[in-house]
Amino acid sequence: MNNELHQLEFLRQHAKQASEKAYVPYSQFPVGAALLMKSGEVISGCNVENVSYGLSNCAERTAVFSAVAQGYDASDIAAVVVYTPGDKAYAPCGACRQVLAEFLATGTPIVSTSERQMRQWAIEDLLPDAFEFDVNAYRKPL
Ligand code: THU
Repeated sequence: MNNELHQLEFLRQHAKQASEKAYVPYSQFPVGAALLMKSGEVISGCNVENVSYGLSNCAERTAVFSAVAQGYDASDIAAVVVYTPGDKAYAPCGACRQVLAEFLATGTPIVSTSERQMRQWAIEDLLPDAFEFDVNAYRKPL
């Protein structure tokens, strides 16, 4: 196995392990995400649901928020790998795309994996024309 494939499988295993911690009493659909940081560290996350369904958090966002909580910032993420059980590899939801757009450099690989499929994108393909906003241009002087 070449190095890139080996690393992808390593990250997939991290994402799979994270999915085993998912809190999914409502959907029964566990998802895990692993972020490869440029430092070499791997930060993972799982989906966490809530009885008020709309408050549920996807695995991708849990992982990104966890990286931020650990002191990382935009441009520190080298790759995102997501794992879902079963045959199909799923594309990230719209909310996660917007959050990933905030933290991923153009071209950063986002790889979705399952037991049988693998799909890969860059954030600019998943969310073209993402919402951007220059707070300084908008703010009125006090
Ligand atoms: N989910 C994720 O964690 N990531 C995705 O990319 C899509 C959906 C979660 C949200 C919810 O807990 C469950 O999967 C079913 O939608």
